[in-house]
Amino acid sequence: MQIVSTVEALRKIIKSKKSEGKSIGFVPTMGFLHEGHLSLIKRAKAENDFVVVSVFVNPTQFGPNEDLSVYPRDLERDTELSEKSGADLIFHPTVEVMYPEGSKTTVNVTDITEKLCGASRPGHFQGVTTVVTKLFNIVSPHRAYFGEKDAQQLAVIQKMVEDLNMDIEVVPCPIVREKDGLAMSSRNVNLTEEDRKAALVLSKSLMAAKEMIEQGEKKVDVIYETVKSVIESENKVEIDYIEIVDGVTLEAIDEIEGKVLIALAAKVGKVRLIDNIIIGGQKCC
Ligand code: PAF
Repeated sequence: MQIVSTVEALRKIIKSKKSEGKSIGFVPTMGFLHEGHLSLIKRAKAENDFVVVSVFVNPTQFGPNEDLSVYPRDLERDTELSEKSGADLIFHPTVEVMYPEGSKTTVNVTDITEKLCGASRPGHFQGVTTVVTKLFNIVSPHRAYFGEKDAQQLAVIQKMVEDLNMDIEVVPCPIVREKDGLAMSSRNVNLTEEDRKAALVLSKSLMAAKEMIEQGEKKVDVIYETVKSVIESENKVEIDYIEIVDGVTLEAIDEIEGKVLIALAAKVGKVRLIDNIIIGGQKCC
């Protein structure tokens, strides 16, 4: 398993793989890999000849009062897990490599970045789209794999790829959950045992919504109230937002129709968690 930390070295390898006619799959991550990431790597390996995983905790997508300093990191473990899942190379640049002094360019997707997580994390998606564009330019993959757990991030990246005519196939991959329903996240390690138990109301509330919809409920405000009351049954959980929106445009809707995203974010103890389900349009998680 190769670990590469410079743009030049990575480009040389990619150029040589492409000259052999090999397809390149790419899984961008911030490290501290869990089963969700590994499912993306496995899928990338199944669909491509050469798989690059980037491990880079991107400072520009964290706000001043967010968890950049306590974001978990363990490159040795990430390397081992990536290799076992089929990755061929890890790209692990420093902050100086990704953002050399004098950098002045950012990439910004408007509108859909201002809702949901964008409303409570100003600047977050600009950090994501800028780093993902840079990574796409460095790795130049045929396909890039993103989890549906970050549903808004996925929608923003799909829009960016479409709007900027990027010649990359974005492959969405389903959420991976713990047996008890908690969506896998690198941040889960920062939950205390008690907070972790409390966090289960998040997936429970989404499952309650899914059941209501399966039984024919179409009114968004009725479903919203159920999701809210399930979460509020746990006083350790502080809701940031619950949104029931069009699954493509992220626009507010009144009735369940077509592809719908039910997304939520909440603070559990000191940890901000997100979760969602997608109803219609594609398989529900
Ligand atoms: O989803 C993540 O881990 C990050 O937002 C990403 C896409 C690797 C960009 O830093």
